Amino acid sequence: MRVSNSNEERKSCLRGVGVTKVFGTGNKKTVAVDHVDFDFKEGDIVTIVGESGSGKTTLSKMLLGLIAVTEGEIYYQGKLRDIKGSRKKKEYWKNIQAIFQDPFASYNMFHKIDDVLLDCLNMRGCKDLPHEQKVEMMTEACSFVNLKFEELTNKYPFELSGGQQQRLMIARIFLLKPKILLADEPTSMIDACSRSTILDMLTKLRDEINMTVIFITHDIGLAYKISDKVYIMEHGKFVESGDAEEVIIHPQADYTKRLISDVPKIYEEWDLSTV
Ligand SMILES: Nc1ncnc2c1ncn2[C@@H]1O[C@H](COP(=O)(O)OP(=O)(O)OP(=O)(O)O)[C@@H](O)[C@H]1O
Ligand SMILES: [Mg+2]
Repeated sequence: MRVSNSNEERKSCLRGVGVTKVFGTGNKKTVAVDHVDFDFKEGDIVTIVGESGSGKTTLSKMLLGLIAVTEGEIYYQGKLRDIKGSRKKKEYWKNIQAIFQDPFASYNMFHKIDDVLLDCLNMRGCKDLPHEQKVEMMTEACSFVNLKFEELTNKYPFELSGGQQQRLMIARIFLLKPKILLADEPTSMIDACSRSTILDMLTKLRDEINMTVIFITHDIGLAYKISDKVYIMEHGKFVESGDAEEVIIHPQADYTKRLISDVPKIYEEWDLSTV
């Protein structure tokens, strides 16, 4: 959790007003996201917590611009987001990156690692830099995640261990330097040790490049550990939001209380009992 000066006015990165997504029509209609309001500030780690089917992935797809918003507005850096047309969408996607559970899904496995990393630099407009400088940047990104670039050259991602692949995924983010990173349950399938390494690296990355991180999870314990802000989602609505500590230690909504009581270990694991 970040120690921040509460008087400090941080800029809005993504803001939503009445954001809604309806799938289907008539009796097949599903209101997956129902008039949610949010304001994610630059450099914050924000966690969206909710049970299965509450609308988290649908909301993240709207944030990523992968599916259209049925109703409501999304503002990016204070301005109404305009991603109509492929050129504007591509421009937006330079600023927002997503990571998923499965590192295999994150890169083309048949591209050598040097090419995977070079692609990131090219996407960031570094195409014309001298090769040595690009190697320097890739080496830095690898060492950020405790990998050695010179040992990776000429290898393919599938030749790495699961943990190394996940670290490579973070090295890509380090090179891409997006303004926003959206992580939909990135750690749910990995062991506790790799999980905490990934979380530490994401926090370090946020500190380093002031990236806004949006985490999507079922795990309110994880939300407490890593977030500045949490948004609790139930049936497509935010039932409660605010500073992570405030919401999790003094929950107001019955749903939040239930999520917390479902994970009694949260008190032992994160030692909330002493707060
Ligand atoms: N493409 C779609 N067409 C119709 N309904 C959909 C579609 N995508 C999602 N839904 C519905 O919207 C609701 C929210 O789904 P969503 O995937 O956003 O939930 P989630 O919170 O991410 O769940 P989980 O934690 O299981 O990943 C569900 O009722 C789901 O069935
Ligand atoms: Mg989901």
